[in-house]
Amino acid sequence: MEVTIERILPGGLGLAHADGRTMMVALAAPGDRLRVRIDRVKGSVAFASIEEILEPSPERVQPPCPYFGRCGGCDFQQLNYQTQLAAKIEIIKDCLHRIARIDKVPDFEIIGAPNQWHYRARAQWQYDAEQKRLGYFESASRRVCDVAECGVLVPELQATLENLRAQMVDEALSHDARYFRAIAGDDGVSVMPSVRSTNARQGKVDEIRRLIGDDAYTLTAEHFFQTNADLLPRLIDAAIGDASGERAIELYSGVGLFTLPLARRFSYVIAVEDDRDAAKQARKNLANAGLTNAEIAHTDVGDWLGSTGALQQADFLLLDPPRAGAESRVIAGIVQLKPKQICYVSCDPATLARDLRKLIAGGFSLDSVVAFDMFPQTHHVETVVHLSG
Ligand SMILES: C[S@@+](CC[C@H](N)C(=O)[O-])C[C@H]1O[C@@H](n2cnc3c(N)ncnc32)[C@H](O)[C@@H]1O
Repeated sequence: MEVTIERILPGGLGLAHADGRTMMVALAAPGDRLRVRIDRVKGSVAFASIEEILEPSPERVQPPCPYFGRCGGCDFQQLNYQTQLAAKIEIIKDCLHRIARIDKVPDFEIIGAPNQWHYRARAQWQYDAEQKRLGYFESASRRVCDVAECGVLVPELQATLENLRAQMVDEALSHDARYFRAIAGDDGVSVMPSVRSTNARQGKVDEIRRLIGDDAYTLTAEHFFQTNADLLPRLIDAAIGDASGERAIELYSGVGLFTLPLARRFSYVIAVEDDRDAAKQARKNLANAGLTNAEIAHTDVGDWLGSTGALQQADFLLLDPPRAGAESRVIAGIVQLKPKQICYVSCDPATLARDLRKLIAGGFSLDSVVAFDMFPQTHHVETVVHLSG
């Protein structure tokens, strides 16, 4: 079947219409004329893959990665960088319009990545001990795509991947491990589960240190941390800016990426994180920075909002939930709390839009939107939204 790609949709698939059907085509570029094969049909939507590029879009580039199309990792390598950025703006606008039901979505900026390759400082590599494969899941599959070289990893993580591969070949990796997580810091690389280091370049450490702006964070590969350190000072600035006041609340605070800068600007900060280890690490990061005006509540955000701790008025509330967004009871709790200002940091425009719709219905108005290309070569994008009550 022949189709022409109209635009890129949330989720990164190309939209086309043919035979009275909506088609979603993987790894396509806007303007491509393609012969496609339908892989599956869901209602009136057919999901398809490219059989032949009949006429390439002017925006199309040759993907440099040898695993492109098989590895489930980078689904935007076929787009030149300007088109990647434009597609991400369209994805966010589409979600804000269709899901959040915002009639007139304001124009907004996307901040491009200084490094479009070799930016990824945190990774999870899947390991199949039986098949001796180490890499990423193949797209829409649990099969491990064996990856010897990954173009988005920072050089220290590429060296770590090579080190793990050498140990895999030597039968030195535990057969019980299903994956390895790694994070590169300023002083080395932390790998979990722990492995021996046979490569001097890797500089393996248990806990890494990362300086972002003036603040130092320590953490291990088991903790969440943003993968692209290059853009973090600007992301923090866009989220917090020159906000200041008495009391700030931070939900889903991790090891304290936003907690430290908030504690420098507000008299008192309460941050909520349900991972015990991350909460402990955030306390340590605050103590190392000499900040004593922030408290880390180790509990579920929904539970905390329903407790007495949440009852006081807040000048500023920042939330940075996982990809699934915030639970309904969390949004209901925020609406009840009525903070003067909200900053929502999101890595999924669809769940962000779902939650924004409820916040706007709850009386908040959208003040600003800005996007950050934290994940070049993929359809993923980070969005920072400000609302006021
Ligand atoms: C996207 S990360 C953001 C962390 C931090 N803001 C950062 O940028 O490094 C989300 C964090 O929320 C935590 N989390 C997930 N669900 C939670 C819940 N229901 N209650 C509290 N924390 C939660 C995770 O452990 C993780 O640290």
